[in-house]
Amino acid sequence: MSDRMSWAIKDESILTDLVTLMDLTDHERHLLATLQPQAKTHAPELAEAFYQRITLNDKAAEYVVGQVDHLKGTLQDWFIELFSGNYDTDYVRRRLKIGQVHVRIGLPVRYPLAMIDVILAVGKKVTAQNPDAQAAFHKLLALDMAIFNQAYEDTQLKHLVHMVGNERLARRMLSQ
Ligand code: HEM
Repeated sequence: MSDRMSWAIKDESILTDLVTLMDLTDHERHLLATLQPQAKTHAPELAEAFYQRITLNDKAAEYVVGQVDHLKGTLQDWFIELFSGNYDTDYVRRRLKIGQVHVRIGLPVRYPLAMIDVILAVGKKVTAQNPDAQAAFHKLLALDMAIFNQAYEDTQLKHLVHMVGNERLARRMLSQ
């Protein structure tokens, strides 16, 4: 397999690459921003459904013991920021840091990814009156999951590069 252009994109460029890929329009940004008050109203409902789901699985629940109340708050802030209307590289950087927090606690990426439907259900309620807003919300959630995943991939690649001594080889190993 030949080298891929995406392999050459590093650090800050990854953030802009993702923002560009989503192709968000000003209209979509504006629509989401106007819905932030409704997002605040529905955020507690998301937090309840989210932690109800996690506590169904003792292997996932193990990670949140003793901090559910605090985490319900940080999740609500995360959800409300989806409706900020400003999705620049600072936004992506903040979200990437959140992904990195999950990497650091050793949480398998399947658990965050498996929560998408819970977030989607509440986002649908917030955007119910406007199909364009709903489509924009889907984009933002897809962007966030891509960012989450990026945090995991960055870490795996970094360690593999360290072990094998060169990135090209590490990339090839990860492709097999
Ligand atoms: C899409 C899914 C998820 C989102 C959006 C999310 C969001 C967040 C946010 C915003 C924080 C605060 C980060 C910070 O302090 O800067 C956080 C921390 C945390 N999350 Fe999640 N989370 C998700 C999935 C999960 C899952 C599935 C678990 C466990 C099964 C989990 C466990 C934790 C824990 C334990 C912390 C605290 C880590 C620490 O500070 O040491 N998260 N999460």
